[in-house]
Order: sequence, then structure tokens, then C-alpha cells
Amino acid sequence: MSELEILRWPDPRLMETCSEIGEITPEIEALAADMLATMYAASGRGLAAPQVGAMVRMFVMDTGWKEDKPDPLVCINPMLMEVSEERATNAEGCLSIPGVSADISRPAQVQMVWTGLNGGRYVQSFTGFAAACVQHELDHLDGIVTFDHLDADTRAQLEAEYVA
Ligand code: NI
Repeated sequence: MSELEILRWPDPRLMETCSEIGEITPEIEALAADMLATMYAASGRGLAAPQVGAMVRMFVMDTGWKEDKPDPLVCINPMLMEVSEERATNAEGCLSIPGVSADISRPAQVQMVWTGLNGGRYVQSFTGFAAACVQHELDHLDGIVTFDHLDADTRAQLEAEYVA
């Protein structure tokens, strides 16, 4: 495993739509392992492939490792099946926008389907911080970052903080 360089906003690759993964090749397996290593090294809870310059629909996450409940997930071609009407606001950081925390409102509960590294199909419901995390990482696969959820004034303020 090796650590990969994490792209920083406004790298244009963070604004692109990623391609579906057709086959789980050894390269994809290696990328997933490297992404997990990179995420842990950066003290993050989620990392999407485009954040390391790989323009494919895959992300890794582990919302429990900081609380000594490691639960590494590799999600290939993830899609939301259901989203709740109830919404929740979480302070979201992003490894590609270091130092910036943005309060973002999203559906409080989501059900996601994805393919695992073993080729199996998984369906799981997520609530709380994990629900925000999967939606944040899914956004990356469509070229969306936290800034894109903010109103113009808040965005301008946070972008100014980031540049400064
Ligand atoms: Ni992010």
C-alpha cells in the first residue's frame, strides 16, 4: 500500500463526473487499498477516487475508526436508493478543502446500494454522520464539493477563508 497525493480544491478534476467501474481489476483493488491508507494517514473518514486523481466511481469510508470501531467500506458504483424527507445539518470537512468546515443540510437517512471489492452487491441504510458522509463522497463522484451546497454569501466567505 502507498499513500497517494490528495488533490486540493479548486483542482479541476474535483469538478468532473466520474466513470462507472466495469470490472474490478487488480488496479482497482490496489487503488482501494491505497485510498484507505491515504484516508487514515490524512485522519479522514471518507475519500473518493477523484480526490486522488482517479476518475472512477469508487469511494472509501470508515466512520468508526476514530472511536476505535473500525468499519472500512469500499463502495464501487454506489447509488442512493432512498432518501428521507427529514433533513439534518452536519459540519462537513473535506480532505480536498483542508481547514474548512461547512454546515450542510442533507437528507437525514439514506439507503445506498454499491458493489464491494469482492464483486458482491450491498445495500445498507445510513443515519447520522454516516449518512452525511456517504452523500458527501457520492457528491465527489459527480464533481460536487461542499462549497456547491452553500448560498452565495456563505460560499464566498468560506472560499475567502480557504484561500487566506
Ligand atoms: Ni470531500
